[in-house]
Amino acid sequence: MKLDYRFVRNENPKPHPEDESKLGFGRIFTDYMFMMDYDSANGWHDMRIVPFDYIPVHPASTVFHYGAEIFEGLKAYRTADGKIQMFRPVENIRRMNNSAERLCLPQVDEELFMSILETIVGTEKDWVPHSDGTSLYIRPFMYGNDPHLGVHAVHNATFVVICSPVGAYYAEGINPVRIAIESTDVRAVRGGTGYAKCGGNYAASLRAGEKAEKNGFTQVLWLDSVERRYIEEVGSMNVMFKINGEIVTPALLGSVLPGITRKSCIELLKEKGYKVSERKISVDELFEAAASGTLEEAWGTGTAAVVSPIGWLHYLDSEYTVSGGKIGPVTQMLYDTLTDIQWGRAADTHGWIHPVA
Ligand code: COI
Repeated sequence: MKLDYRFVRNENPKPHPEDESKLGFGRIFTDYMFMMDYDSANGWHDMRIVPFDYIPVHPASTVFHYGAEIFEGLKAYRTADGKIQMFRPVENIRRMNNSAERLCLPQVDEELFMSILETIVGTEKDWVPHSDGTSLYIRPFMYGNDPHLGVHAVHNATFVVICSPVGAYYAEGINPVRIAIESTDVRAVRGGTGYAKCGGNYAASLRAGEKAEKNGFTQVLWLDSVERRYIEEVGSMNVMFKINGEIVTPALLGSVLPGITRKSCIELLKEKGYKVSERKISVDELFEAAASGTLEEAWGTGTAAVVSPIGWLHYLDSEYTVSGGKIGPVTQMLYDTLTDIQWGRAADTHGWIHPVA
């Protein structure tokens, strides 16, 4: 589908980052962004690619008062022969529409959404970095902007896509991270918005995240909100454990984000003959496995985090070192297999790669 949009030239393009080893995550933005507006009478309209800039928003807007906001995160990769490709974008498109459904925000037609992604990434292709482990992070987001204070489903919304050249999400890179299991705050409840990618879930996670960081941890691992026993997710990634040869990951029961990297890792693990169980896993089971030596590996999966080994797990007064504080063989295999596909070093036998330019 060819996108029908207007283009406003950026008269002040920025210099591209010289040292790609210092990109970090989400601090540098490209020259352009995609925008379109929605109202119930006209649907989505005024598709445009405009210079990256501040966005004027009405002070009474739904997004400011009632948190009507959803987002996605996916990446475009530069291959050794200079091609630009995205990884499983249709999964992000579908997940964003599921998030929109949960928050009463409007749907975006799948073909239109794909064409928007292709067009903005095509426009910004020179911003896709070249160095190993770097990519262009694509952040579509949508917010409700009805300009009045009544609490109602949204009738006006804006959809935006911004892009950021990125390196590793964690300062640790591919080295193991320290994770604190949170015993007080919860991130999401069943029947709530945990499975949707909405800003409110992340806002609710900030207090515990801040506390964990102050105590020397990279991130928080959430427990379920009812019994405070079952492992959920980290927030910036889903989690997987290798216990006695079996891969275990929390089942998607409504309060955990259905990660696309999670799904891809499960598919890869099954193909390689691992037994993968998507089920409830309690913190007691995890620490019993750690104490008896059967917790062999732990890692997180996410678009930003890719596959990130967990080296230390802290809960109340106990701390366990996993895999000797080193990346384990299954974690390394997943990281290598996935990143080889993403950067075009291995054949895409799954139909996961979507070429852009
Ligand atoms: C992602 O992995 O793309 C995320 O959205 C996680 C985080 C940076 C919020």
